[in-house]
Amino acid sequence: MPPDRPDTVLDPDRRLVLKQSGVAAIAALLGQSGAARAAISAAPMGFTAVPASLRDAVVVPPEYEYRVLYRWGDPTGIAGNMPEFRPDASNTADEQAAQAGMHHDGMHFFPLGTDGRRALLVLNHEYTDEQLLHPHGSKPLTLEKVRKSQQAMGVSVIEIQRTSTGWQQVLPSPYARRIHGNTPMRVGGPAAGSPLMKTTADPAGQRVLGTFANCAMGVTPWGTYLTCEENFQGYFGGPSDPAFRADTASRRYGTVPGGQWVDWFRLDERFDVSRHPNEPNRFGWVIEIDPMDPNSTPVKRTALGRKRTESATCTLTRDGRVAVYMGDDGAFEYIYKFVSRDRVNPGGLAANRDLLDHGTLYVARFDPNGQGAWLELRHGEGGLTPEKGFAAPAEVVIKARLAADAVGATPMDRPEWIAVHPQSGEVFVTLTHNSQRGAPSRPAADAANPRAGNLGGHIVRWREAGADAAATTFAWSHFVLAGDPTLPGAATHYPSTPADPFGAPDGLHFDSGGLLWIQTDMSGQAIGKGAYANLGNNALLCANPSTGQIKRFLTGPRGCEITGCVVTPDRTSLFVNIQHPGETRDDGSGSPNSAWPDGTTPGSARPRSATVVVWRRDGKVVGS
Ligand code: FEO
Ligand code: CA
Ligand code: CA
Repeated sequence: MPPDRPDTVLDPDRRLVLKQSGVAAIAALLGQSGAARAAISAAPMGFTAVPASLRDAVVVPPEYEYRVLYRWGDPTGIAGNMPEFRPDASNTADEQAAQAGMHHDGMHFFPLGTDGRRALLVLNHEYTDEQLLHPHGSKPLTLEKVRKSQQAMGVSVIEIQRTSTGWQQVLPSPYARRIHGNTPMRVGGPAAGSPLMKTTADPAGQRVLGTFANCAMGVTPWGTYLTCEENFQGYFGGPSDPAFRADTASRRYGTVPGGQWVDWFRLDERFDVSRHPNEPNRFGWVIEIDPMDPNSTPVKRTALGRKRTESATCTLTRDGRVAVYMGDDGAFEYIYKFVSRDRVNPGGLAANRDLLDHGTLYVARFDPNGQGAWLELRHGEGGLTPEKGFAAPAEVVIKARLAADAVGATPMDRPEWIAVHPQSGEVFVTLTHNSQRGAPSRPAADAANPRAGNLGGHIVRWREAGADAAATTFAWSHFVLAGDPTLPGAATHYPSTPADPFGAPDGLHFDSGGLLWIQTDMSGQAIGKGAYANLGNNALLCANPSTGQIKRFLTGPRGCEITGCVVTPDRTSLFVNIQHPGETRDDGSGSPNSAWPDGTTPGSARPRSATVVVWRRDGKVVGS
């Protein structure tokens, strides 16, 4: 294990926590104690907003600077294994396993030590662009290409340090680690050992090879990182057995022949659903990773439910248990909450090792009167019985979508990230967009998802009853109905005027001062067109929920999504991910329309997802 594991990795002021104990100390870690509240203040958003842009560049306010920190293919920093990126993408699968993956997404900043100068960045790699990943694309597919694809997703742990010229990656670092589609991990919680989790390679149903499709994230009060498996269905296919018929749950999750994005199953048979029908059950989970120990085994925490999990945002209940909010990103999918059985203990990971394995899983119902309820998914109740297809508690979590259907949850317009206000505990969720809302034979607009053919997306906020994250009821309202307000019929609502408009909100982060950082993901093919014609490239916006003010802070290069924003505890640096620059390929050439960050004109360099750090030239608080 590397040196100097911090006792309290989430805290902006370590001394503050060491003076405290029990729940108070843990609350301080999440920025929820009175002491933590006193240490920060809401700052006015005085920065110069940037205009909507279609440039192939990152643009920040004139008072700010940015630096590219960690691009796809850059060495992660594993000692003795630091292969350089080859611009023709000829790095091998083994080399990829020691380099930054593709499509950077959710991310967290874990301080090391107490002087604010060293930290770990832990970030997800969500999916692959197979055309860019290999020198000449994926055809013909080979096992080497499949392995490279698997090893280009997952998680990176990198060490960074603040030098006189800003943040730099530390190479090598004893913490550096790549977790990917072939990394061994353990199964924890009610699904461990279930017959539905057993495979030929793992007859006990306790060990899984790998994680991929890692989208948003969470961080626990005891300092571990949670990575979420979202579009795992994109990598399962088949069949080699033409008699194979997918069951109800497989169809609900999309793990059916013909649904795959990449044909891994042709060369790696565990992804053939006809030969290994339980393998897809082993994906779609939240995985807990100890970022401080590169030798630790990641654990799939099945008590949190299986879905296309977008995020896993943690907060504390009044009595000191952990609540985890999660979105399931599919059209008409649900919002979930897990509440642990046991209280969080002081003492870090060692004192909370299996806390996420026991608790209650709920799903949200949004009522038309602005109230809502958390509906418990408990085996044997609410129709979750063997007669209805739930043979055991394990099947409720493995088939969480079907369980949520049965109890009457509210289908939402693609739930993405969830963020909890650091002082009030109010919860915000992005519903990115849902063009199918109101379409024939699809759910109509409703109170919580009020627009048919919703392309703008929206943000819902709620307060738990009694300001307690363990509550089973809540009061909700809309924070924003996003989109272009100048378009006829857009039916937008912004909380203040003027506000910088945006479309398709996805990433969402509260900094410790209570500023809300909204990141957008209009699809690459839709940027600059139709409903998004006036909104420019994807952007990072800063919002103040108290005043409703919303200003555009950063715009990304062509075709990219903006995601993974995390502000340091001292609020002087902002890290953000530029995902899939160049995804747009609509000029007829089939070539990416971006060369960011290495080139200046399309075609001059292979575009690369990358982590960027942004800071004020005067060193003061970002967003103020
Ligand atoms: Fe991975 Fe739903 O964005
Ligand atoms: Ca997302
Ligand atoms: Ca997305």
